[in-house]
Amino acid sequence: MKTILITGGAGFIGSHLVRLMVNKYPGYRVVNLDKLTYAGNLANLKDVEDKPNYRFVKGDICDFEQMRQVFADYGVDAVIHLAAESHVDRSIKDPFAFARTNVMGTLALLQAARLAWDGRFEGKLFYHVSTDEVYGALENDGSFFVETTRYNPHSPYSASKASSDHFVRAYHDTYGLPVKISNCSNNYGPYQFPEKLIPLFINNIRHNKSLPVYGTGENVRDWLYVEDHVRAIDLIFHQGKVGDTYNIGGFNEWRNIDLVRLLVGVTDRLLGRAEGASSCLITFVRDRAGHDLRYAIDSSKLHRELGWSPSLQFEEGIEKTVRWYLDHQDWLDNVTSGDYLKYYEEMYHK
Ligand code: NAD
Ligand code: DAU
Repeated sequence: MKTILITGGAGFIGSHLVRLMVNKYPGYRVVNLDKLTYAGNLANLKDVEDKPNYRFVKGDICDFEQMRQVFADYGVDAVIHLAAESHVDRSIKDPFAFARTNVMGTLALLQAARLAWDGRFEGKLFYHVSTDEVYGALENDGSFFVETTRYNPHSPYSASKASSDHFVRAYHDTYGLPVKISNCSNNYGPYQFPEKLIPLFINNIRHNKSLPVYGTGENVRDWLYVEDHVRAIDLIFHQGKVGDTYNIGGFNEWRNIDLVRLLVGVTDRLLGRAEGASSCLITFVRDRAGHDLRYAIDSSKLHRELGWSPSLQFEEGIEKTVRWYLDHQDWLDNVTSGDYLKYYEEMYHK
């Protein structure tokens, strides 16, 4: 039985990936290793926790000895590495946490894999899940990030992810570790922690709270439904070329303000309010420091080489997502901690 170690499997994207791997590949043993930080929630995985091919390990990727033990205990064949600090605003507040987990944690995991596999790399793989933010920011000029775009990160979050990508490539080039990397655009869908734009705003609309749009709302993001992302990971994991990088994105660019208006319209309709009634909640607040203007990712390599394309139209994905959050108020209440609110107030409502 092949053993796959998925790190960060209790988080947003990780939980969708664990679910896909456990259900689609009963012949794999899926070990979900997660520290359960504020962003990790085992309730995201209730439907797979009793499956015979699923294991959970509470662990910290920064703990090198623990990582070595996990490789020894489970005989790990492949790693899909998602564990990270993932929120840009938090990285502005506490950059050290991002260097610790995203850089040192990734390094500890790489070293544990290298020592465990000890040069016998046949059938082994270290797959690193990364972000389009490593490429920096684009102007509103129709250009795209491609796999060879020069790294130019601006936030402590993207700098830490860029650094982790470099370490992954360095382990491939220096020690021959079989690696793959993918860089994806903004994900949305169920189980996303409500500090990120889409779940935060759906929750706020429901509770008639203000919708804090940073700066002028002109910033552009490319949005992809989370299940399309994990389908791409599955494909790259099984069929991608070792040593290669793949961009993943939806060719689906939205200005923040237009996305917020769409969210208001859909959420109002599903709540039975007059459509657009909640527009009055939109509030322009102080801009995010170093706020990247535009991300747009060219995922044509993934389409050309592995036949992947997004399956869901954005309006359909947004409707599905809004419905999910409205139907899962208990989930939202559970994950919205007092600490998070305090932090948020400090950052944007001084
Ligand atoms: P998330 O914040 O929802 O989940 C992160 C998970 O990692 C949590 O379960 C957390 O408990 C765990 N974790 C954090 N520190 C850990 C540590 N030291 N040891 C073990 N586990 C730890 O993040 P997400 O949005 O699901 O993102 C997952 C990955 O995908 C990240 O690497 C992120 O950079 C990347 N990514 C995210 C997006 C996006 O839009 N969300 C887009 C592209 C790439
Ligand atoms: O591009 C991929 C990245 O997408 C991932 O690597 C990150 O892990 C993920 O968090 C996401 O980063 P963003 O910073 O783009 O996502 P966020 O949801 O925080 O913000 C989306 C946009 O909305 C961004 O331009 C900032 C803006 N925003 C966000 C929040 C939370 C607001 O205007 N108001 C808000 O309250």
